[in-house]
Amino acid sequence: MKIPFGAMTITQTAKDLIAEALDSERLSSGKLVRRLEERFAELTGVKEAVAVSSGTDADALALAVLHDFGANRGDEVIVPALSFVATGNAVLQAGFEPVFVDIERHTLNIDPTRIESAITDRTVAIMPVHLMGKPAEMDAINAVACKHKLYVIEDAAEAHGATYKGRTIGTLGDMAAYSLYVAHIITAIEGGIVTTDREDFAEILRSLRSHGRACKCKQCVINTADQTCHKRFQHGVDIRFIFERVGYSCKMNELEAAIGLGSMEVYEQIVAQRHRNLMTMIGRVAEFAPLLTTFRQEEHETIGPHALPLLVAADAPFTRDELAAHLEQANIDSRNLFSSMPTQCVGFAYQGHELGEFPEAEYCGTHGLHVGVHQALTDEQIDYLIDTLRAFIAGRT
Ligand SMILES: Cc1ncc(COP(=O)(O)O)c(C=O)c1O
Repeated sequence: MKIPFGAMTITQTAKDLIAEALDSERLSSGKLVRRLEERFAELTGVKEAVAVSSGTDADALALAVLHDFGANRGDEVIVPALSFVATGNAVLQAGFEPVFVDIERHTLNIDPTRIESAITDRTVAIMPVHLMGKPAEMDAINAVACKHKLYVIEDAAEAHGATYKGRTIGTLGDMAAYSLYVAHIITAIEGGIVTTDREDFAEILRSLRSHGRACKCKQCVINTADQTCHKRFQHGVDIRFIFERVGYSCKMNELEAAIGLGSMEVYEQIVAQRHRNLMTMIGRVAEFAPLLTTFRQEEHETIGPHALPLLVAADAPFTRDELAAHLEQANIDSRNLFSSMPTQCVGFAYQGHELGEFPEAEYCGTHGLHVGVHQALTDEQIDYLIDTLRAFIAGRT
């Protein structure tokens, strides 16, 4: 038996849309990307969605918007110490400095009680991450943000389908950034999307994804129809070549949007199946506590079923890496539970932090891993995972 980490659902609609796009020869961002944005906004219950090339770009662009709203280069953004490294990278890519705050081990998310002491007069935003789809403590985070007049941008890369106190994750801050990478719940192969209720933010996002151009239309007529753009030379100059801000080049293309639209068609089924898998697996790994533990779903939330995190106890008679190697030999794909960005990711060593400053994130970095809960997982595969874990632990105790 083999258990891959993720599974991709490519629907017939996606295949038809790809064929249509190829026939039309209009493959750069166009009407399919716009349709994907509209569908995604509908699905998450926000006014605006802007599609980009990756979740990392979604994080970076959401932050870069703040330069049009009073932020300065070098200002600070508070992020959890534990996340996929893209969160920290995106802060730097947007021209800000990441300020890391430790997490709570049982939620894997930023510890809200530590945020306030990390705020300085240069802080412009907090970027909580809903790691492994588990909602961050948004009430507490928003309260601090409100008190200090900070923006809140949710890194919802892993949190499709998550809810917090009856509200959809991604609607609880000023903007949210999702990844549409292959292993994620809605996928466009590679891709990302920023959501917001603010039209002025969405306009800047559309400019940012296309080099900071002055044009910000929801859909570019040049690439969607045999039309000339009437706005282009309105003032005697070509606005396509006026660059109003420092931009990026990260548009989504039509083929990716076609895959994304197909995947959104089966979104509800995928989320439901993955959530069933996650809850079953959370229940079944309980037999390995306290040697091996996972998080739990609280009453006020629904975890977005991204993956199942597992933490090896500090006094366990085996290491995380031994467990991961055993799973690999048994054809079960796993991933580390990321790292403490400031102290376990070399790229951030320039900040001068030392190992021990972020003990909870570091613990997850050395003792954590995660396995897939994807929609193609069968009951037999879940049984196989549990049997493999049981046999491994029995051999070590
Ligand atoms: C928490 C988090 N943020 C950002 C990203 C970046 O997304 P992408 O890989 O689409 O660039 C990921 C990727 O999985 C992620 O897990």
